[in-house]
Amino acid sequence: MDSKPLILVVDDGPQNIKLLRAILEPAGYAVCAATDGETALQVAQTAVPTLILLDLMMPGMDGFAVCQRLKEMESTRQIPVIFVTGRDDVEAESRCFALGAADYMTKPISLPVVLARVKMHLALDSQRRSLEGMFRDVMEFAPDAIILSDAQDGIMRVNRRAEQMFGYRREALIGRPVRMLVPHHPAVGSSLPCLRHDGSEFPADINRSPLQTPYGALTMAVVRDVTERHKADLALAEYRQQLRALVAQNESNREEEHKHLAREVHDELGQILTALRMDLSLLDMRFGTLDPALNAKVLDMKGLLDRAIQGVRNVVANLRPTALDMGLIPALENLCAEFAQHSGMDCVFHTRLDTLDLDETRTVAVFRIVQESLTNAMRYAKATRVAVTLGCSGDALGVEVRDNGQGFDPSAVSRTRSFGLLGMRERALALGGHVDIVSTPGEGVVVAVTVPLDATHTEEAP
Ligand SMILES: Nc1ncnc2c1ncn2[C@@H]1O[C@H](COP(=O)(O)OP(=O)(O)OP(=O)(O)O)[C@@H](O)[C@H]1O
Ligand SMILES: [Mg+2]
Repeated sequence: MDSKPLILVVDDGPQNIKLLRAILEPAGYAVCAATDGETALQVAQTAVPTLILLDLMMPGMDGFAVCQRLKEMESTRQIPVIFVTGRDDVEAESRCFALGAADYMTKPISLPVVLARVKMHLALDSQRRSLEGMFRDVMEFAPDAIILSDAQDGIMRVNRRAEQMFGYRREALIGRPVRMLVPHHPAVGSSLPCLRHDGSEFPADINRSPLQTPYGALTMAVVRDVTERHKADLALAEYRQQLRALVAQNESNREEEHKHLAREVHDELGQILTALRMDLSLLDMRFGTLDPALNAKVLDMKGLLDRAIQGVRNVVANLRPTALDMGLIPALENLCAEFAQHSGMDCVFHTRLDTLDLDETRTVAVFRIVQESLTNAMRYAKATRVAVTLGCSGDALGVEVRDNGQGFDPSAVSRTRSFGLLGMRERALALGGHVDIVSTPGEGVVVAVTVPLDATHTEEAP
């Protein structure tokens, strides 16, 4: 096989052909020739030259018509055409370039210039071929499906992965609309539904990019099957949901247990201690005057009993603040008053609501969130003042705990050692709400809780 580049010279003047042959052959090119347009087209299709030198003015089919036909035919479209003509006018030259010519030279030709231009166009063509080859390989062996489509969204080319992914042979796809595979075309995005040949659907990430090519403006869609990721996402979401439900259930069991324990301790132990206290007083009244030593002992015992009664009260209050039974507003008022007393900080509670009819689950959750926020403020904030505000807007209940302390960076909080903020968020999420923590170091902290009210209702003070 001859590895020399083959150049087709088309000219109605045999002298010109001879001249060009005399220049090109010694320079290492193979030359074939045609003296009219029809023959040139035949040779171009059968011999498929690497370059064509085309005369413009020829009897019968002129150079314009030959060039136009060459560019219309798939097998010859890519062959570079250099016009070699006696017509030195701009109009003809622009028309040639508009038809897709690679270059335009006027006669009389200069030998070195012809050689230099031929060499340059062959180099450009070889570069184009190698780039096209690379593009074809990249496309063919890409791990994602690639669909090239024209301006009317007709499929022009697909790669091997697209055949596998959609279950079609590529011949069956050429010319068909992209929508046949991607019903939401031209949408781009994540987890869009795609259709296989057998009618089944699968989710895919789709990217589209415009391409300027010799065939006009095309679109390249890259389709990535994300079925597995989708399944994993769903499983993870379900797992999270279950975990959240489990946490909520645990919390609610714990609250129930605390409530039960608080009642038991209060009713059983509390009553016994109160009865003992009364009996001691009776004992003191009846016999205390008879024996001063007994009187002193009874006094001691009364003191111990008072401490025990206070201890029981504290345990009961820690397990289940009694004010919670009266509703969220009294419970928060009480919590703030006690917090101010224990922490030494100024703690104010503010609400414009007169009453709030809130179910037990929400009441306890919001109360515990505020309680944790106050504990954090006392432990870390170095604040002098904390304000708790309760309000309603639309169908949601909002509570804000704001301190004037040193603040912190919420994004830097350890996820494995600190559970207060996490617990607050989980409690709110379990009720369909959320917690926002806003703080920049040095500027205090605002914990804002929002919980939907659902079937509950409120009355606002005028
Ligand atoms: N009001 C606040 N002011 C300053 N820092 C805060 C405040 N609230 C929280 N922090 C910071 O955020 C961290 C996380 O708080 P979180 O309540 O989640 O955990 P914790 O209090 O450290 O431990 P746990 O609550 O699990 O006993 C705290 O360690 C503290 O550094
Ligand atoms: Mg905490």
